[in-house]
Amino acid sequence: MKTLDDLLTEGVEGRRVLVRADLNVPFDKEKPGVISDDGRIRAVLPTIQALVRSGAAVVVCSHLGRPKGAPDPKFSLAPVAERFGELLGSPVAFAADTVGPSARSTVDALGAGDVALLENLRFNAGETSKDEAERAEFAKQLAAFGQSYVDDAFGAVHRKHASVYDVAKLLPAYAGGLVLREVEVLRKLTGEPERPYVVVLGGSKVSDKLAVINALLPKVDKLLVGGGMCFTFLKAQGHEVGKSLLEDDMVDTCRKLLDEAGDKLVLPVDVVAATAFAADADHDVVAADAIPADRLGLDIGPESTKQFAEALNGAKTVFWNGPMGVFELAPFAAGTRGVAEAITRVDGFTVVGGGDSAAAVRALGLDEAAFGHISTGGGASLEFLEGKDLPGVSALESADG
Ligand code: 3PG
Ligand code: MG
Repeated sequence: MKTLDDLLTEGVEGRRVLVRADLNVPFDKEKPGVISDDGRIRAVLPTIQALVRSGAAVVVCSHLGRPKGAPDPKFSLAPVAERFGELLGSPVAFAADTVGPSARSTVDALGAGDVALLENLRFNAGETSKDEAERAEFAKQLAAFGQSYVDDAFGAVHRKHASVYDVAKLLPAYAGGLVLREVEVLRKLTGEPERPYVVVLGGSKVSDKLAVINALLPKVDKLLVGGGMCFTFLKAQGHEVGKSLLEDDMVDTCRKLLDEAGDKLVLPVDVVAATAFAADADHDVVAADAIPADRLGLDIGPESTKQFAEALNGAKTVFWNGPMGVFELAPFAAGTRGVAEAITRVDGFTVVGGGDSAAAVRALGLDEAAFGHISTGGGASLEFLEGKDLPGVSALESADG
């Protein structure tokens, strides 16, 4: 794989470099246009700064959310361009379209050391199309904006999209520092991780995590399961889960996983059950096998948090993906906080995987430096651990450079 350092050695002075970043940041639910966690913008800054310092004209592109292949103001990258400029310390020119007239004139106006951001790639159907020719056509338009291409969008390397996969075949392609670092860290987990190796999984859906659970079970010493997905497992154990999140069609699968996993797979013994999904809802700690019919579990309980922390104590390798509860609402944040704090106390190699868990670390005010690595990729890091081929990475590996 050719890297950003190779490109800088070749020289970029006065040249145009197209950078694919993952600027898919979360926004404040109450305040439209306000970014609630800018971690992904910060993570790509070193790459942009290195290119700027070397005199390149930098054309950055990214997706945001999941618009349906046409412009949708809700998913505009305009607020991201503004924050990007603040963090960079100099304005980022924003193109109001992706490959249209605004993009062309914005890119044409760039001088050495200037940075531009194109509008959301997913405003164009070609970006995510399953049709190779449609994707290639869009990739060609994007490729016209650069003389070389740097992929630093680790969060999107698992997507076979025009800007991630096809462009790498049209321009000399290089891996950015973020992609390199992420891949290096995750390789430690798929290689021979030091034991005990403990994985903590949360998040809402078992169906999203099924493949990674199957891939991890033979490798880990303990798999701690919290978050919305634990209720489908509790149901599979024969417990009633009230109005908690439940994937009915996954109950049988969970039962089989529990049989196979034996005592490797650890579920909560208590949960915080509330009358509604709201910060001001009545809530109590109840045993995991006694969730009232009219309540829903929104966090793991204190005894579970203690047991999870004990399982983490002494671990030499930890991977954590997915919050333990609805941490955005204060009454349901204790489980995520407790588990995250336990991970910071681990004397070993710890990795936080994913958009949501990484955002949780920062939202809860935890010290980022207390973790070994905080990944910018949720789905990407899970697919990496599953051992799947990542189109963005293989495109870089097979690029001629
Ligand atoms: C993410 O947030 O996981 C990445 O930005 C990829 O987004 P996607 O799941 O919409 O492709
Ligand atoms: Mg995602």
